[in-house]
Amino acid sequence: MMTTATEMGTNITRAAALLRQGEVVGIPTETVYGLAGNALNREAVAAIFAVKNRPSFDPLIIHVGSPALIEQWTLGLPEALQALANAFMPGPLTLLLDKQPAIPDLVTAGLPRVAIRVPDHPLTLALLAELDFPLAAPSANPFGYISPTSAQHVVNQLNGRIPYVLDGGPCSVGLESTIVGLEEGRPTVFRKGGLAVETIEALIGPVAVREHSTSNPQAPGMLKSHYAPRMPLVLADPAQLPDSLPPRRVGVLAFREAAPWAPAQNQQILSPDGNLQQAASRLFAALRYLDELDIDLIVAELVPERDLGRAINDRLRRAAAEPLQ
Ligand code: TXA
Ligand code: MG
Repeated sequence: MMTTATEMGTNITRAAALLRQGEVVGIPTETVYGLAGNALNREAVAAIFAVKNRPSFDPLIIHVGSPALIEQWTLGLPEALQALANAFMPGPLTLLLDKQPAIPDLVTAGLPRVAIRVPDHPLTLALLAELDFPLAAPSANPFGYISPTSAQHVVNQLNGRIPYVLDGGPCSVGLESTIVGLEEGRPTVFRKGGLAVETIEALIGPVAVREHSTSNPQAPGMLKSHYAPRMPLVLADPAQLPDSLPPRRVGVLAFREAAPWAPAQNQQILSPDGNLQQAASRLFAALRYLDELDIDLIVAELVPERDLGRAINDRLRRAAAEPLQ
């Protein structure tokens, strides 16, 4: 295990050289930061799991530099998903497609399909253009914790465990990609994310949406207790101070309006104008901020259940769930 401090910078040549050597590097995307390694190199993929403390039954998304490369790593794009790929790649969309044998089973946790996406970030697209392999990259957080939306978030948690983070600034979308695949021939959303279900449906008509299940998770990103702060979090109306706690011991995550009883430094307002895109882009940084305060409880408010609000609420509900044993 390396112990030198993790460097942050914008040196694509350096990141590419490290990745060619089988190292793991933090990369920016429009959704969240990824922990990237050569998807074709089993040692590099194993190192990703080790750095993240991620169980090996949880498969990784591979990232490619252009939609044209999907053919190379999968058995092809089904007709029913073609329009989505055309419209939203690059973008916050991941497709589940039958994999080529060249993709190691470790990447897909033995599953026949591979999750593939084209991230919409200029630095990472430039990086991918220099490489002749796809990048396997989960979100760059320790397993179960909130995803990072800045290079500093990555360094805060993984300092000394990876050599380099490519710093592409704050993530513009701020929620993980929406995962879509076919189920019985029908387009199905397996994880709500940065591409709203409504936006997908406006293009291809009604889709099935799989709700997360704790008993039989299709994907561990579907585990109920995931994307969670360490601090206990309850979903409630922030206008009301929770019983038996002094205001200074409570943090507030509000959608539009501050809670009158809470000290300003204990509060994070996601979007005073009620803009769900803005709320999404601020969500994870706000949760991290609150998680670092000296308080006993976070009170979080659900946002309207539409567009990106559905993915925001999904993350908040899971942050509020009891940890799984
Ligand atoms: O926006 C994103 O998707 C970010 C950025 C870095 O690209 N990545 C991300 O990766 O969120 P991760 O590993 O944190 O979440 C990927 C989810 C996991 O829940 C995983 O189980 C699911 O995708 N997944 C990956 N491959 C799969 C497969 N072959 N079949 C079913 N689910 C899969
Ligand atoms: Mg993740």
